[in-house]
Amino acid sequence: MRFETSCIHAGQRPDPTTGAVMTPVYQTATYVQDGIGKHRGYEYSRTGNPTRTALEACLAELEGGQFGLAFSSGMAATDTVLRLLGPGDHLLAGNDVYGGTFRLFERVLRPYGLDFSYVDATDPSQVKSGLRPNTRMIWLETPTNPFLNVSDISAIAEIAHNRRSLTLVVVDNTFATPYLQRPLELGADIVVHSTTKYLGGHSDVVGGAVVARDEVLRERLAFLQNAVGAVPGPLDCFLVLRGIKTLPVRMDRHSENAAAIADLLAAHPKVDRVLYPFHPSHSQVDVARRQMRSGGGMVSFILKDGADEARRVAESTHLFALAESLGGVESLIEIPAAMTHASTANSPLAVDPSLVRLSVGIEHRDDLLADLERALG
Ligand SMILES: Cc1ncc(COP(=O)(O)O)c(C=O)c1O
Repeated sequence: MRFETSCIHAGQRPDPTTGAVMTPVYQTATYVQDGIGKHRGYEYSRTGNPTRTALEACLAELEGGQFGLAFSSGMAATDTVLRLLGPGDHLLAGNDVYGGTFRLFERVLRPYGLDFSYVDATDPSQVKSGLRPNTRMIWLETPTNPFLNVSDISAIAEIAHNRRSLTLVVVDNTFATPYLQRPLELGADIVVHSTTKYLGGHSDVVGGAVVARDEVLRERLAFLQNAVGAVPGPLDCFLVLRGIKTLPVRMDRHSENAAAIADLLAAHPKVDRVLYPFHPSHSQVDVARRQMRSGGGMVSFILKDGADEARRVAESTHLFALAESLGGVESLIEIPAAMTHASTANSPLAVDPSLVRLSVGIEHRDDLLADLERALG
């Protein structure tokens, strides 16, 4: 099946008992057993639920993985992957990651004996020199939140896999989605998602996912998923499955609208810099064009007149709603330094307060352009 077809059918078939075309929401905590130890594939819904099974199979196919695991949030997925590490292990991350990921690294896991350091992951040689004998994992977001930096996944995977000790490359593929970028095919070991964003696509569900290929990872991560228990409910799985059905058409429109907005901002006298992976001014535009199908729906820009002007613009749009999160059909605007990335304040990962982040929706492009021009002007 081609990608667009998989989005609609992967992991799903008409319900065998009723013929229902849509995967039912199996709103049950437990399952009757035919005898002790004799069940029909399901015992308890933390361990497995048929609606979740459909979503997990769909996610695995879309990312080109052997297995998918669904979680109750992107942070729950991230946390479960990080439990592959133990005290004394080191994780090397790009120096621009989602604020919540940074908070989990530094404020939750560092006290348990894990070590974290950060490099400019747009430069593979810096990743190479940042590796230590105890580095077990490299954590990449590409494009990053909120700077839209792009890392060369193949080059970094090659560096990691040429080491003598096992170093897993994890890519948070939330911004790109598997429609635009397939990290496992580029050599990454694990893909992580906040399904809250483009996969769900309608700002009506919080969820996360992990996809990988290796059988040993499957056993370990599935064990952790059940043992830790940060699983999504069946209705949430249903909503993500439904969102995925329209992922390709939404991503095409998100990207078209975002590219037009990046052009508008790049030419605007009040804008110092526009950050968009497919814009000619982007420093990794070649890598982005090589590993992504299109630039995606996220655009950031830095205003010449600083933080106060950035806040004024963010509070002046009508269509772009002032809100956290991203990836829904509706357009959003925010100031990461004060909102999504407030947890990076006073750290080396702190975000420029004059940076504005847009999640460009799928409304009519001209309405979005007019709204931004009015707010800027
Ligand atoms: C890139 C990225 N990864 C992970 C997360 C965390 O996902 P969630 O909010 O679903 O826990 C977010 C949330 O904004 C994100 O932007």
